[in-house]
This record gives sequence, structure tokens and C-alpha cells, in this order.
Amino acid sequence: MSDEKGRPSGWGSEAKGLANRFAIGSGVAVTFLLFGLIVIPALVRERRPLARPPSDQPAAASVGWLDQAEAPASKGRDLPPVDPATVMTPNPKLLGRGEVLFKQNCSSCHGESGQGNGPAAGTLNPRPRNFTQPTDWKRGFHVTDIFTTISTGVKGTGMAAFDFIMPADRMALVHIVRSLGSFDHGAEDLNALEALANQFRSRGFHIPNRIPVSLAIKKMVKEQVTVPPLQAPSAEDKSASAELLRLAIADPTRAARTVAATANRNDPVAVARAWAAGAPDNGFAPAVAGLDAAQWREIVRALVGTKEEARQP
Ligand code: HEC
Repeated sequence: MSDEKGRPSGWGSEAKGLANRFAIGSGVAVTFLLFGLIVIPALVRERRPLARPPSDQPAAASVGWLDQAEAPASKGRDLPPVDPATVMTPNPKLLGRGEVLFKQNCSSCHGESGQGNGPAAGTLNPRPRNFTQPTDWKRGFHVTDIFTTISTGVKGTGMAAFDFIMPADRMALVHIVRSLGSFDHGAEDLNALEALANQFRSRGFHIPNRIPVSLAIKKMVKEQVTVPPLQAPSAEDKSASAELLRLAIADPTRAARTVAATANRNDPVAVARAWAAGAPDNGFAPAVAGLDAAQWREIVRALVGTKEEARQP
């Protein structure tokens, strides 16, 4: 009321003060409570790593084969039996799955329509197979041949072993690969088909231990591939590009292997990231960590070159 307004002191104002303090206090308490109930759990949820789909369940929203390939290391295991009837011949469910898997794992090299002209085909030699034609197949285009190719890869080429893809899913891919070529795939080898069906029927499949592709490339760089070492720029060459190469390359032999094992060469940013991440094991100097985008573009251009340059011996 208005008569209370002017009152300088007394019980009323004390009570008011108390009430105010109580209001403020409970306001703060409620804020803390809300913070505790809503904000903190949200933050915790935010910081938890995103749940990855188990490897036999690639998410439709997954970004592509790089994603699959960089899935974390996992231990090998035996798989339960699969009814061969669900995988040996195409059915709509299998083909739907195959299409997703093909986009994620294969089209980067083999192209969306299987012509061997995907964006990562780049300077691969040999070229990714063209699935639309019956020519040039090395392993063959029968069901069992393609299954073997996908399972074991082709050693010494860009065609890796996709043994981390479940066997039933590899069959989905087999049917997609075949569907991309409208030529006559010929009579199947019935014995080979029966052997494969039996593997599905029994507990014949084992998924091996799996490591991310970047690690595999590191190992490969260390172990096998033989390519001539990179040519050092001549001492008289004082161009910016030569200076950069001298700075970036610590071990020309290893760096040459790294360059040879690089898949998506058409994307200088991805290439730079991969090379920088592998230094110094991969032959690049630790100093590359400090290079900027333009310098990287220059190095990638010098080492990978245009498709035409790179094809020359
Ligand atoms: C990094 C590039 C790359 C990716 C990704 C890739 N391939 Fe290949 N693939 C190749 C290359 C290169 C060859 C040719 C090998 C050769 O000529 O020996 C090839 C060959 C093949 C062949 C034919 C082998 C033959 O008989 O000639 C099949 C089938 C095949 N790939 C299936 C697949 C499938 C299915 C996927 C996805 C799961 C896939 N590839 C992913 C590069 C790739």
C-alpha cells in the first residue's frame, strides 16, 4: 500500500528485505538447479564421442569410403551362418544395401556408374576396372571372382581388400558390380558357387583384425612398395618450389612411397593433410606441420602434378 512506501525502517521493511533476499536466493538456487538438470547433461552429451555404427551396419548418412576406412581398429571374430538363399542371387533388399555400400566404398574410384572414372581414380595405375565392359578383367566377372576380388583386393594396385565389409554385404556389392555391366556375364562355375554358399551356410567366415587405412598405408610405406626415390631439385634451382621441396622432404625414398600410395590425389587439401599427418615416418620432414595451404598446394602440384605429367615415367 502507499502508506508503507515512505516508512524508513521497522519490521515491515526488514521482512521485505528478508523476502527479497529469499527471492534472490531461491532465484539463484533455481538457476543452479536448471543448470545442473539441463545444461550439464547436455554438455556431457555433447562431449561424448558420437556412437559409431557397428561395422556391419554402415549408416546411410555416413560420408563415404574414407569414413569406413578410418573406422577404429577392431578385433577379429567369427560370424554366424547366413542363409545362402538371401545372398547368392540378387533381391531388392540386398541391392538396396549394395547401392549404399558401393557409394561409400567403391564409387570414389570406380565411378557412380562403374565406368572406372571416380574422382579418386586420378593417376591410379592400373586404372580402376570399368564395370560396364567385359574387357580387361583380370580376376573375372563371375559372382565368385568378384567376391574374391572384393575380399582380397588386388595386390600392388589401388584395389584394397575390403575384408572389413561383412561377407553378406560383399555379396550385395558383387550384385551391384554385375548390374553395372549390361554385357553377358556368362555361365557361373557351379562348384565355386556351391563352395561359397557353403561358407555362408556354415560358420565359415571370419572377420580379421582390422586397422584404419591410414595405419595400413603407414605399414605399407614401411614394408613393401618399391618405387624410385624422389628426385631432389638441383642445387642451383633456387625457385620457391625447389626450396619448399628441400624443406618438406626428409627421406626421398620413403616420401616417394608415400606419394605412390596416395589415393585421392585430385584433392590437394586432403593429400596435404594425409602427408602432414604421417610425417616424419612417411619421409616428409616434421617441418611440414608449419606450412600453409598455398605452400602445400605447391608441393602437391610438384610431386603429384597434373594427370598428364604424372603418367610419364
Ligand atoms: C582406391 C581406389 C579403389 C577403390 C576405392 C575400389 N577399387 Fe576396385 N579396383 C581399383 C583398381 C585400381 C582396380 C584394378 C586392379 C587391377 O587392374 O589389377 C580395381 C579392380 C576391381 C575389380 C576387378 C578386378 C578384375 O578382375 O580385374 C573389382 C571387381 C573391383 N575393383 C571391385 C571394387 C569394389 C566392389 C569396391 C568397393 C567395395 C572397389 N573395387 C573399390 C581401385 C579401387
